[in-house]
Amino acid sequence: MMITVSTNPYGDQKPGTSGLRKKVPVFQQKNYAENFIQSIFDSLEGYEGETLVIGGDGRYYNRDVIQKAIKMAAANGFGRVLVGRGGILSTPAASNVIRKYKAFGGIVLSASHNPGGPTEDFGIKYNVGNGGPAPERVTDAIFARTQAIDSYRIADVPDINLDVEGTQHVEDMAVTVIDPVADYAELMESLFDFAAIRALIAGGFRVVFDAMSAVTGPYAKEILEKRLGAPKGSVMNFIPLPDFGGHHPDPNLVHARALYETMMAPDAPDFGAASDGDGDRNLIVGRGIFVTPSDSLAILAANAHLAPGYAQGLAGIARSMPTSGAADRVAEKLGISLYETPTGWKFFGNLLDEGLATICGEESAGTGSNHVREKDGLWAVLLWLNILAARKESALDIVQKHWAAYGRNYYSRHDYEAVDTDAANGLMAALREKLAGLPGKSYGALKVETADDFSYHDPVDKSVSMNQGVRVLFEGGSRVVFRLSGTGTSGATLRVYIERYEPDPARHDLDTQAALADLIAVADEIAEIKTRTGREEPSVVT
Ligand code: G1P
Ligand code: ZN
Repeated sequence: MMITVSTNPYGDQKPGTSGLRKKVPVFQQKNYAENFIQSIFDSLEGYEGETLVIGGDGRYYNRDVIQKAIKMAAANGFGRVLVGRGGILSTPAASNVIRKYKAFGGIVLSASHNPGGPTEDFGIKYNVGNGGPAPERVTDAIFARTQAIDSYRIADVPDINLDVEGTQHVEDMAVTVIDPVADYAELMESLFDFAAIRALIAGGFRVVFDAMSAVTGPYAKEILEKRLGAPKGSVMNFIPLPDFGGHHPDPNLVHARALYETMMAPDAPDFGAASDGDGDRNLIVGRGIFVTPSDSLAILAANAHLAPGYAQGLAGIARSMPTSGAADRVAEKLGISLYETPTGWKFFGNLLDEGLATICGEESAGTGSNHVREKDGLWAVLLWLNILAARKESALDIVQKHWAAYGRNYYSRHDYEAVDTDAANGLMAALREKLAGLPGKSYGALKVETADDFSYHDPVDKSVSMNQGVRVLFEGGSRVVFRLSGTGTSGATLRVYIERYEPDPARHDLDTQAALADLIAVADEIAEIKTRTGREEPSVVT
């Protein structure tokens, strides 16, 4: 049976590029989630009889929305739904399932690294048939539809049992509950030298992985402990909890502090890592060394050929504009192209689809490759382990040798969160006004070489994305970049990215903030951060 319900339009809450993210009570409003899901379906064409993948990171309200989505997919004419057992699919695993089973698309339920629980965050995102986030023309169409929608279709049937693998039916549509881990583990096994990693671990190499009570727990248990032989207990916080145990499932030095401290202790394990709520971000900490995401991208790219999946070499490397230039030096040495894209994973999709880039990364702890169309936390961990197994050196040695060979890009991001929106917009506008006058100007020993507002010309679809962040480059390879966050929830978040290139190995062991102090001061002088935001200090320094 099909029922039609009149609903209220959304208002003007335009969903962000990472789908719709709101607090759980907002999603619990009558017809709210249904309204958004129907808007997704109404914006698509040609899905009749096709397969839809559904899964999420297990956070509070995950199962409720999955039940609604399945019943709505049936009423809207999909032929089949593939859903992860327990409603679980990490974001990269969902991307893989979409690709592997040639699904029409997928609905991924997550709010990434944001907290979960009855009053915390929830999100719905639509991924297209290549396994990647919906491009802007699709998200724009979905938003436009939310403005006009007045009814949705849903099958009036009992809930599906999400805990038993196998096929059930909702009206004419098949619903297959799949093992959320198996396809992903198989993909990882096809890319990496599991035998070498197994031998490394059997030889006493100690790995710890913090799943942060989020989605990667079952994946890490299966891969690291079962298939690679890491001792039981190597994977911490491995049960996905609806509230992530009350923590932010954000693998950074603030929220994964305990792991960081474990890795800095004298008796530290050899390698530590963590992933976020939905499994697409990563934190890499070797014994005695935190590897910045920008350095990690460069080191993974420089050594990827040591893993069977990348033995043929890389076609190219892509990084978001604010990510440090460390990867550029690797691309140069390898004689391959380096693509500089705006912030956001979706900009890598075309480069990966066209075979122009093989490995991609962002400074915000996202790294991935052409194996799926999302960033992938465990993938980065496994590539690191493969490299460690092949080189038989410590993570610290590998990082230091990398710096010695390529130079070190000191790098830090300063975030000013919940800044008054007008003040933040005013700061960016004033900065843009100043750009033309900056080249040639000196600030102490720092001389501005170029200054611009980054715009991206997609080499594949020829689309142009303007105003993607102001960058000021100094002679010698240092730079500061300013942009406003596109994912913040209250007020505006100003992100300032500071980078200094240091070729001299004798100067590779400085404290990062100290090494960047002069650039930090110049960033404030150029952008008038303190006076315009009223803030003396950034809210977060990474
Ligand atoms: C942030 C990160 C960006 C990432 C995005 C989604 O966006 O900076 O690299 O792609 O989250 O995970 P921002 O808030 O800076 O717009
Ligand atoms: Zn995430």
